[in-house]
Order: sequence, then C-alpha cells, then structure tokens
Amino acid sequence: MTVTIVGSQLGDEGKGGVVDLFGDAADVIARYQGGDNAGHTVVVGGDEYKLSLVPSGAVRGKTGVLGNGCVVNPETLFEEIDALRERGLDPDVRVARRAHVILPYHRVLDGIEEDVKSDADLDAGTTGRGIGPTYEDKAGRRGVRVGDLLDPEVLRERLEYAVPQKRALYEDVYGGDAGEEFDVDALFEQYRAYGERIRNEGMDVNAGDYLADRIDDGDTVMLEGAQGTSLDIDHGVYPYVTSSNPTAGYAATGTGLGPTTVGQGEVVGVVKAYLSRVGTGPLPTELTGDDEDLAEYIREEGGEYGTVTGRPRRVGWLDLPMLRHAARANGFTGLAINHLDVLAGLDEVKVGHAYELDGDTIYSMPATTERWGDCEPVFRTFDGWPEFDPEAVAAEGYEALPEQAREYVEYVESELDTAAYALGVGPGREETVVQQNPFEQ
Ligand code: IMP
Repeated sequence: MTVTIVGSQLGDEGKGGVVDLFGDAADVIARYQGGDNAGHTVVVGGDEYKLSLVPSGAVRGKTGVLGNGCVVNPETLFEEIDALRERGLDPDVRVARRAHVILPYHRVLDGIEEDVKSDADLDAGTTGRGIGPTYEDKAGRRGVRVGDLLDPEVLRERLEYAVPQKRALYEDVYGGDAGEEFDVDALFEQYRAYGERIRNEGMDVNAGDYLADRIDDGDTVMLEGAQGTSLDIDHGVYPYVTSSNPTAGYAATGTGLGPTTVGQGEVVGVVKAYLSRVGTGPLPTELTGDDEDLAEYIREEGGEYGTVTGRPRRVGWLDLPMLRHAARANGFTGLAINHLDVLAGLDEVKVGHAYELDGDTIYSMPATTERWGDCEPVFRTFDGWPEFDPEAVAAEGYEALPEQAREYVEYVESELDTAAYALGVGPGREETVVQQNPFEQ
C-alpha cells in the first residue's frame, strides 16, 4: 500500500513535516514531480534541514527517490547530498533515468521570460530554477534525461540539437549575450561528469521497476507531492502555476507505479489553517488594506518567507472553495491540518466559506483564474482560540486542543467530508496531534 501526500492549496502547507511524520512507517519516499523549486524544511531533534530537491525522508535514513516526473538539477542534487554528508548523514538517493535534467540555460530562460511576461502581468513569480523551460523541453521532445547523462554519445547528440536553438532564442529573440550556459562543449563536460557521479554512486534507477520491486519485497512506499493543487498546471490557477501536476493522479505517472497501485492506497491532503502565496495572481481571501497588520502578524508567527527564495509570502484566510476543488481533484482519504498554533491568540478567525460571483453563490473554484479573481469571498467567522502549549497538547491528544480550534478543525473535516489524520500545532514532529496513521488503515 502507498501513501501519497499532496498539497491542497498553493504549496507551503507544511508537507515536509507530514512526510516526516508519516514517513516514519515508510521504507521509501519518492517524489513524483517538480524539482529544486520545492522548499521543504524538516526539523529533527532541534536540527533544521532545508532541502529543495532531495526527498525529505533522506534525513531519516529512508531511501529517497526522484521519480521520472521530476526535473533534476544535478548541481543542486549533489550540493544537498554533500551538505547532508557534512552533517554526518548518509542519504540514500535514487534518481529515475527517465527524469528530465535542468540545464543552466533553462534557468537563464526562466528569468528572462518572467521579465518579459511581467510587462503584461503574466509572470508567475517563479522560483527562477528553470522548472518551466525544462518541462517545456520535455513536452517539446528536446529535453535531456538523466539516462542521457550516463551515455556520452547520446548526451552530445541531445545537446547539439537543443543548445543552438536555445542560444538563438536567447540572443536573437531576447537580445542576450550568451555565455557558457549555451556552450555545447562546456555543458557536455560538466553534465557528463554529473552522469559519472550518478552512476558511480549507484543512484540511477528505472523508477517504476525499482518501486514495484520494493513493494513486492514488502517495503512501504510514500509518494511525496511538491507545491500544491492550486499550482497544478491543469487544476491550478493557470498561468500563475508551476509546470507540473502536484495532484495525486500524477503520483502514478511521475513514478511509474500504476494508478491502481496509488488508488488502492491513501491520499492525504495537507491543509494550512490559513493561506499563503509566494507568487503572483489573484487571491480572493488575501489580507490586504486594513488587514495588512494582521497579515504581517501571521507572516511573522508562521515564518511565511519562501524556503527557496526567501520572499515574504502573501497571506489570506482559509479558502474553502479552493479546498473543495482540491478534495475532488485528488480524492483525499485523509487530511493533515497544519499551523493551528499560528492563529492562536487571535480574537476571531475567518474562513472564505463560499464565493459570490455575478450574484450567485458558488462553492468551488471557477475554471479560469480571471473569473476566480472576480470572486468575492463569503466569510464565516469563528471564535479565536487561546495560546496553548503545543507539546503538551500533542502528548495529551485531540481533546486537549482549545475547544474553538476543535470547532474550526471539525468544520473543515465536515465541509470536505474527510477526517483529519494529523493536526500540526508547531514546527517539530512531536508538535503534532496524530489521530490516525494512514499506513495503519
Ligand atoms: P516555478 O515552479 O519556479 O516555475 O514557479 C511557478 C509558480 O509556483 C510560482 O508562483 C512559484 O512561486 C510557485 N511555486 C513553485 N514552487 C513552490 C513551492 O515549493 N511552494 C510555493 N510556491 C511554489
């Protein structure tokens, strides 16, 4: 049985902590999409690990797999592995041979296209990691895959085809002055060396076979989504989205396990008790204007600054139509509701229960982002809950949570018709009220 962990909102819901908590029961943790745009923070025994590519389970001695649906920047991969080794860990990381490789020109083009798009307010506020351009090349059948790094002849062929096009785009369309990022020989040497290291360290796998074999051997597998449902290229707020599918369906495509295997397992939606957004685009429940002080307070309490970019995140109230959309698109079997501690001490807590759109009340998200931007939230107001001692509450269990916080949680469970398996009341793993472990269903 697999357990898939998915973000239900706009990323940064605290998936890393949930993967860390429930991943304890897993032997293998596989990512199925995204790349080094996915900041995740794991706190182990007071030590904080900030990772952007390596699956967070690797800090706990699990096998971390980057599935074929991921885009892999080998430079980041080895930087993170080396940094973990310097801290005394021995991470076991495997990379799908079918995964696509982020090359330096992808990063350059990501930055330049964002600049150009910003003139028309179409920039997504990307992390600048080259994610979009790499998935573009994957779809355009001109990408370089991890398997190609292991075969110098193929690598050279791929680069000789793709790089002159990229150079022409950069110079002739954007007027740039191309450097080593667009030089076939320099790229060939650098990426062949990465391939050698991947092979020498025994990291390359056929992800689908590898995971299926581990399952056959009796091991348990967790599938870790990056970003969140509203950043999904199909189900999110296009074009202010990432270029992959964080939703649970892609857990199959992006690892090579069958949809039946993933579907027979559990799908846990991670929800933050409020909203945050690091990129651009509309956000109906955003705290702005008179509420800016409150946004600032939540931002500070919740540490709402991008893990990858350090950018301050925009903050809003919980958006139920967004969550209803996520629950349907992912088929959640359980929830993890995080950051309840951040809202403690507020007099009242609001949620966007529905939207008003053209005089109608609607309960899910419109399919176009422009229409979403036209939505006026219909708020429900809950009593705030007092500050509490997170470790004591986690140790005593659900009933120890302030009554008002329980009311809030039960509202979300009932609206989504899904039980909360875990409630996050602080950043550490021990600061979680665990109701149900999905591996023990
Ligand atoms: P990209 O994935 O770097 O192309 O960025 C596309 C959009 O996704 C931007 O709005 C980013 O801010 C957002 N994004 C990408 N990764 C994350 C993440 O891990 N957390 C939150 N937002 C993200």
